[in-house]
Amino acid sequence: MSGIDVARIRADFPILKRTVRENKPLVYLDSGATSQKPFSVLDAEREFYETSNAAAHRGAHQLAEEATEAYESARAKIARFVGASPENIVFTKNATESLNLAAYAFSNATALASQGASVDPRFELKPGDSVVVTEMEHHANLVPWQEVCAKTGATLKWIPLTDDGRLDMSGLPDLIDSATKVVSVVHQSNILGTINPVAEIMDMAHAVGAVGVVDGCQSVPHMPVDVREIGADLLAWSGHKMLGPTGIGLLYGTAEILDSMPPFLTGGSMISTVEMERSTYAAAPAKFEAGVPMVAQAVGLGAAVDYLVNLGMQEVAEHELAMTEYSLKAITDLPGVRIIGPLDARNRGSAISFVVDGIHPHDVGQVLDNLGIAVRVGHHCAWPTCRRFAVPATTRISPYIYNDFRDIDAVAEGIVEAQRFFKVAP
Ligand code: ALA
Repeated sequence: MSGIDVARIRADFPILKRTVRENKPLVYLDSGATSQKPFSVLDAEREFYETSNAAAHRGAHQLAEEATEAYESARAKIARFVGASPENIVFTKNATESLNLAAYAFSNATALASQGASVDPRFELKPGDSVVVTEMEHHANLVPWQEVCAKTGATLKWIPLTDDGRLDMSGLPDLIDSATKVVSVVHQSNILGTINPVAEIMDMAHAVGAVGVVDGCQSVPHMPVDVREIGADLLAWSGHKMLGPTGIGLLYGTAEILDSMPPFLTGGSMISTVEMERSTYAAAPAKFEAGVPMVAQAVGLGAAVDYLVNLGMQEVAEHELAMTEYSLKAITDLPGVRIIGPLDARNRGSAISFVVDGIHPHDVGQVLDNLGIAVRVGHHCAWPTCRRFAVPATTRISPYIYNDFRDIDAVAEGIVEAQRFFKVAP
């Protein structure tokens, strides 16, 4: 296995000590939905509230100054984590809000242009233009673009999938063409685990003058991600899947894209001047951060970044690979069980979805839950992907730094137990 010391890590996560379902030790394998939090993150948030709580970027008293300093240092730390500068990082409520912020830039620009306002033409959509996504998008990177297309008359297109759960890149030169204004793709699929060649896709987007967006929710917590290597104009991800608190998301944007994008939410502290008739806006990132910001969550996320940096993201990625290889083998070795997604660990993350012949995925989840094993069941907010593979739902394991091979063995034993219980033993 990698240099990750799982036993030591587990001692930092208080929730992992609890038992569930009549005293069974908790086996937490739902980190794709949300990760657990180490003491250092919980302590950082509590300490902020105990010592410096105030509204950042408002007020001139000492606490307000300390809160502003805490908020901005967290931004700088998070920016460094992905190879960006602080002014390129926007704090949002979650990744869904980050992606909506990106999508609304297009519908807002189109509406403003129709009123004669001067907008960056890259954001103006009209019938005949296209928005390209993939067939493996989370709903958060699909529904907002559907809405944009409905409002502007642009056409939504998508990169189809191969039977082994990868992007079918063969048709890309036809799909991404001079009509394409946006290409928005997931880096690592939350349902299939596939890691997509996003840098290559961003290059294709840029070659036709389109804006390139990447959903990094399942990649940033699990592997080294550098915005300069990906080449996306916008990268969205969330804090709570990378050991941080809920209630905080991120949007990285290049300086010139953030400058050109109209704001999404408007109100306090995102303005430059306000008159009764009109307002002008602050420079990014403030332009996108209306209202009192989530300072405690930013501070907690800063501590989460420290924790991951201390482990080393390369080590985290190696652990992920070892878990992926082990899990793929453990699950494919079971008769009557089929993995939905790539069967080899190359360019694949550790979130693994599967179906068990003769048992509904929800029932598999329930048997596992009775054994103390927390997994996710359902369509994983990627309903079209389920349709593509003709399954109503799947059961998904999604390990992280605090899981080891024994957790995967427990799942394999749980699946056999489910087959026994439902009398579908192959
Ligand atoms: N997007 C999260 C998941 O995949 C909630 O479970």
